Amino acid sequence: MDRYCVMGNPVEHSKSPWIHARFAALTGQEIEYTRRLVPLDGFAEGVRAFREEGGRGCNVTVPFKFEVPALATHASERVKLAEAANCLRFEGDEVRAENTDGVGLVRDIQVNAQAPLAGRTLLLVGAGGAGAGVLGPLLEVGPARVLVANRGAGKAALLVERHQPLARRHGVQLHACGLDGITGAFDVVINATAASLAGAGIPVPDGALRPGALAVDLMYGPAAQPFLAWAHSRGAVARDGLGMLVEQAAEAFLFWRGVRPPSAQVLAELRATLA
Ligand code: ATR
Repeated sequence: MDRYCVMGNPVEHSKSPWIHARFAALTGQEIEYTRRLVPLDGFAEGVRAFREEGGRGCNVTVPFKFEVPALATHASERVKLAEAANCLRFEGDEVRAENTDGVGLVRDIQVNAQAPLAGRTLLLVGAGGAGAGVLGPLLEVGPARVLVANRGAGKAALLVERHQPLARRHGVQLHACGLDGITGAFDVVINATAASLAGAGIPVPDGALRPGALAVDLMYGPAAQPFLAWAHSRGAVARDGLGMLVEQAAEAFLFWRGVRPPSAQVLAELRATLA
């Protein structure tokens, strides 16, 4: 049976084994998918050991996503732009890296939430690993304008600079600023910060939400609640990161198995188990 896993630290909370088990059952694929707790200084060794044991691929979660590109023999354009990856496939001597986070987010917004992004204005708050992973695929669907805001403005500027050629190809106006530089109102506001984990306030001014805007937090569960409650109280449609979690997993499953699993069904099932 082909073996896969998710590597992270911590990793015991990961819902990926449950999600991939459902994908496998629903598509008739025989795979094993487990969690692997990897020491903070032992990611490369963890990957090496899993390959040696016959692993076919793995997902990578915090805090190792930035370490993936250096281990890959082949990194996709998305991985190169994000400088981070969440997915590896092992083929003989080759280690192929992909980043499915952004495609997963875009699919959740456009398909599951039925909010087309082409021609819209987007505010992406956060330029860390999560923000970097989603920016490229957001640009690829052709919004009119994207503002990337980060507490450390320099980090947002670097991320935006790297993405300007892609933005130009898709006709997107792309800008960067610090949190205090956010002006105007947006159709879609995406929170990719860890502000709630730090117990900090909402990193977005009230006026950033256009009436009826879509507000997405890339987290789910209690960590997403402050942002979602804030957005809801201001009349926005609030969406947590559970859909992105399932959709990025579906893209990884496709990358490994060549089969697209029924992600909407599995998302509905996962929500029901958490309700
Ligand atoms: P992740 O992989 O979750 O993105 P990360 O790379 O450590 O983790 O990035 C965390 C993000 O949350 C960054 O955008 C960070 O801003 P800085 O780059 O300025 O550090 C943001 N963040 C963390 N704590 C925050 C807070 N209290 N207020 C606002 N932004 C915060």
